[in-house]
Amino acid sequence: MNQEAMQQASTFLQTKLTHKPKIGLILGSGLGVLAEEIEDAVTIPYQEIPDFPESTVSGHKGQLVSGLLKGKPVIAMQGRFHYYEGYSMQQVTFPIRVFKELGIETLLVTNAAGGINEQFQPGNLMLITDHINNMGVNPLIGRNDDCLGVRFPDMSEVYSKRLIAHAESCAQEIGLSIQKGVYVGNTGPSYETPAEVRMLRTLGGDAVGMSTVPEVIVAAHAGMEVLGISCISNMAAGILDQPLTHDEVIETTEQVKASFLQFVKKVIQTIPER
Ligand code: 6GU
Repeated sequence: MNQEAMQQASTFLQTKLTHKPKIGLILGSGLGVLAEEIEDAVTIPYQEIPDFPESTVSGHKGQLVSGLLKGKPVIAMQGRFHYYEGYSMQQVTFPIRVFKELGIETLLVTNAAGGINEQFQPGNLMLITDHINNMGVNPLIGRNDDCLGVRFPDMSEVYSKRLIAHAESCAQEIGLSIQKGVYVGNTGPSYETPAEVRMLRTLGGDAVGMSTVPEVIVAAHAGMEVLGISCISNMAAGILDQPLTHDEVIETTEQVKASFLQFVKKVIQTIPER
């Protein structure tokens, strides 16, 4: 995926957009409803965008929605690309590169994740304070394009402390109790075994999912400020005496929809300028 492809996609999008988005949103499994709150919206299916892959998972729609959210110009991915779908890391992170090209400086990334931390409950929202890349691959492998970022990007504060503090105060204002923790990115598509969940807990993980880490690494490389929110859709394997299903993931995200929407809208409405 070269710079030309990025520019082509970005130029195409610019002809469609009616607002210049400043905030990029990635809406995870079951969380795509947020896009419906975007006003004066332009919707662009992924298949229309040059070089964009198409998403294949149920609960993920596969389109960009851009417009105003609480008066702020945004662009949202309703559905993302996962490594387990068979896309290359370049494909998975291509939209982030396009966002950067469009002038996006802040990325709000969301996902559904399994709770590893036993203090968590399904339906909790977790602000991501840091991540563990457990995918065994890095999206920046390959020749580095110095125009996009440095060869060896610093990862000491990938998830903006400033935005975490802002999000915490928003949660408090709307009376939402919120968790904080470390997100572990696994490739999936199989869920973890109970032994793997114990291992990830020992390693410092609080929640585990199959996304986010590649996109965030590429966003950090590009110098974007990132806020990450996990919806704890279920407890990871071996914690409760029950099997894990994707239906449960969608069901829980469905249940937290209202508070998730209220929270994210508040975060965006009052987001502090860089
Ligand atoms: Cl338990 N594991 C992973 N890898 N992804 C998830 C999940 C669990 N729950 C939702 N997404």
